[in-house]
Amino acid sequence: MGHWVPLPIHLPTRKSPPEPAPTPLKTPPTLLALESSCDETAAAVFSAPHRLLSSEIASQVALHRPFGGVVPELASRNHLLALRPVIEAALAAAGTDLDEIDAFAATAGPGLASSLLMGNTAAKALALAKGKPFLSVNHMEGHLVSPFMGSGIEPHVALIVSGGHTLLIDVRRFGDYRRLGSTRDDAAGEAFDKVGKMLGLPYPGGPEVERRARDGDPARFALPRAMLDSGDFAFSFSGLKTAVLYTLEKLPSPLPGRDLADLCASFQAAVTDVLAAKAAAALRSSGRELLALSGGVACNRALRTALAAACSGVGARFLAVAPEHSTDNAAMIARAAAEKFARGESSPLEGDVDPNLAVA
Ligand code: KG4
Ligand code: ZN
Repeated sequence: MGHWVPLPIHLPTRKSPPEPAPTPLKTPPTLLALESSCDETAAAVFSAPHRLLSSEIASQVALHRPFGGVVPELASRNHLLALRPVIEAALAAAGTDLDEIDAFAATAGPGLASSLLMGNTAAKALALAKGKPFLSVNHMEGHLVSPFMGSGIEPHVALIVSGGHTLLIDVRRFGDYRRLGSTRDDAAGEAFDKVGKMLGLPYPGGPEVERRARDGDPARFALPRAMLDSGDFAFSFSGLKTAVLYTLEKLPSPLPGRDLADLCASFQAAVTDVLAAKAAAALRSSGRELLALSGGVACNRALRTALAAACSGVGARFLAVAPEHSTDNAAMIARAAAEKFARGESSPLEGDVDPNLAVA
């Protein structure tokens, strides 16, 4: 995809910047955050420093299922329809209203541009109307802080495994990140989804593959553990996906239930083995004593078990995001926004969304 170049539009020049007038803050400050980077429309109300008051998600999964993946135009149009009810539900569940909100936050990227624009524009409009600060949040930083929803962020190694990313990051503190490694091709969640599709399972494949894997034999098919001995923290999952395809071609069609379960279990073991080995190596090399797991694939129980064992093997603690905050949600955006707000940060209303925003 070519780089998007903004049209040369002329904005009226202002004498003074549009900073909201400082209002005396009640303690603790309350934030409303919106997330619309892909196919979930989400809103959360959060009381700083780390008390989640409500988190509402309108999922579009059923809408996109017939297409086997997310259709960007459908996603953005449905964000528009879902945003207002989701915001109202989050405010009601938190027992508050817009007048009580001290700052508005939204995801700025990475994600689908037309989807990002919906939540981002809505949060900016609310900030403008209420004369309160707006905070732009990186979706990946939201995932990164999601295991620390109810506590302070400690120095740690972050493993973020989602549909779009597989990242190992050395976290010194909020905002101070060193990327250790990432995937060279497919993200872990993407590999789950593509293998699910290959096996004829409904979208998204991740939870479906895990469900079939439960009754399967993870040692039945010898699948590759790519880059296990690469000596760095890079990942590659596209070869594994191809290996699943070759294995599948040698099996009877339609695939008997036993073969399906064994293939799912063998694939899942190949993914979790590599993630666990690289996470342990990252802990050893960074000297950190905590691994924090986040992202949609963090729902996977086999992965949690493998990572917990890997951590205990290197004397580190393991903290996994709560399942309800692992796939996309606004609670994690609010959690990150609360850190920014505490530092006195705010983002310009003229700021753009960025589909390719990087975190480290
Ligand atoms: O974080 P997320 O909601 O979206 C992105 O930011 O990408 O992650 C979605 C990904 C999908 O690829 C989905 O298949 C995967 O998380 N996923 C799982 C499981 N639940 C969700 N993968 C493996 N096992 C699961 N139980
Ligand atoms: Zn995500």
